[in-house]
Amino acid sequence: MIEKEVNPHFENFLFDWKHKFQVLVGGYGSSKSYHVALKIILKLLQEKRTALVVREVYDTHRDSTFSLFEEIIEDMGLADKIRCVSSPMQIRFPNGSKIIFKG
Ligand SMILES: Nc1ncnc2c1ncn2[C@@H]1O[C@H](COP(=O)(O)OP(=O)(O)OP(=O)(O)O)[C@@H](O)[C@H]1O
Ligand SMILES: [Mg+2]
Repeated sequence: MIEKEVNPHFENFLFDWKHKFQVLVGGYGSSKSYHVALKIILKLLQEKRTALVVREVYDTHRDSTFSLFEEIIEDMGLADKIRCVSSPMQIRFPNGSKIIFKG
C-alpha cells in the first residue's frame, strides 16, 4: 500500500492509460514532469514492463529525468526496493520492470 499526495489537477492523468498521447498543461514548476514520472513508476510497480525515456542527448538524462525518478523513489520510501543504477542509467524494480534511458 503506497500513499502519496498528488496534484488534484493531474490525478486522473495518473491512472489513465487509455490514450496514446497525452499533453500536460500548467505553468513552470507546476509538477507536470513529476506526475509523468510518478505515473510510470506506479505502472511498473504493478506490471512487469520496460519503459524507455528518450532525450536528444543521453547524458542530459542524469540531471533531469533520471534524477527526477530517483527523487520520487526516495520520496515514496521505495529506495530499498527500486534500484537506481547510474552507469548505464537504469532503474530496476523488484518484479523485473525497468526504466531505460537513451539519447
Ligand atoms: N506531489 C508532489 N510531491 C512532492 N514533490 C512534488 C510534488 N509535485 C511536485 N513536486 C516538486 O516540485 C518540483 C517541480 O515539479 P516539476 O519539475 O514536475 O514541474 P514542471 O511542471 O515539469 O516544471 P517545468 O515547466 O519547469 O518543466 C518537482 O521536482 C518536485 O520536487
Ligand atoms: Mg517539467
